[in-house]
Amino acid sequence: MQKVTPLEWKDECLYLIDQRKLPMEEIIVIAKNVEDTFNAIKDMVVRGAPLIGFTGIWGLVLALNESTSLDDFKASASYLNSARPTAVNLEFELKVCVEMATKYCAENGTLEGFKTLLEAHAINEMKVLHDKNLAMAKRAEQELKEVTGHEGPYTLMTICNTGYLACGPQGTALGIITYLHSKGKVKHVYASETRPYMQGVRLTAYELSKSGISHEVTVEGAFSYLLKEKNVDAIFAGADRIVANGDTANKIGTSSLSIVANHYNVPFYIAAPISSFDINMETGSEIPIEMRPEEEILEFKGIRVAPADSRALNPSFDVTDHKMIEGIFCENGLIKPVDKENVLKVLG
Ligand code: MRU
Repeated sequence: MQKVTPLEWKDECLYLIDQRKLPMEEIIVIAKNVEDTFNAIKDMVVRGAPLIGFTGIWGLVLALNESTSLDDFKASASYLNSARPTAVNLEFELKVCVEMATKYCAENGTLEGFKTLLEAHAINEMKVLHDKNLAMAKRAEQELKEVTGHEGPYTLMTICNTGYLACGPQGTALGIITYLHSKGKVKHVYASETRPYMQGVRLTAYELSKSGISHEVTVEGAFSYLLKEKNVDAIFAGADRIVANGDTANKIGTSSLSIVANHYNVPFYIAAPISSFDINMETGSEIPIEMRPEEEILEFKGIRVAPADSRALNPSFDVTDHKMIEGIFCENGLIKPVDKENVLKVLG
């Protein structure tokens, strides 16, 4: 299987595959400074919570070409963090970098030489996520056996794109599916579209197709039909922010899917690394929801499709109530049932 690489660091630049163009075109966007990195995140050249976080780290590596002052470094971190507000992974990764820089500066009196350390950190963060995602996939395999009473092959469903294009290595929710496939345990997968760039139809289908997994893409309006008629064993979704009580922000449409899943008794799971948790927030009502440009809805490929005077409401994410979630997989294990006590217990 030939995979495209969503993010690559070479020749002192960040090479990003333009995810708005896949699978029809494989176009590379090169980020040479903090501003390029900010725009790539904001315009969704690069997307998916973990990958946005890693891109943020590389943005700070680039910031060190412009200045080695700690204040400037912190200002670059705040600027990058403002590119997309819902996915906490960006904030998480930038915060770690600022802490590292502050410590380095205290010990060395300058950020001179810090770049090498930060580059190694960026590479390592992506590497360890692979192991974390694999741990989640293995736990999910065990859980599926328990809830279904059999070892597959399973009919599964997912929403948006949570594979290696969203994470760098392996993937979270889609990573579970590809792992199960590698063990011969996947019969069929339903992949739901998603806005604004049809991430499910283009990116998830692309990954499933490259992995040779039997699949069909579907529109968000088909949730009820699908879950009533198609004997789906389980649904796996990713997360952009999980708060203390387990409420979870993810791609717009995820909450509707969870409600329909509960209606038809289909177990609905979230899979996300600990960098997706934000226990400073008690409930989902505190999560900032990114509102995207109206044109993404009013136009199709740059051509207006709605009447000239129509407006659009374009929230990029919604919040799934923790009561709708059967369990949350993270690298430390499974949070089930989903409530504050169990979230805090599993996070340690
Ligand atoms: O707007 P996007 O494409 O960045 O949204 C992505 C999602 O909602 C994913 O499900 C989420 O980031 C988890 S990725 C492992």
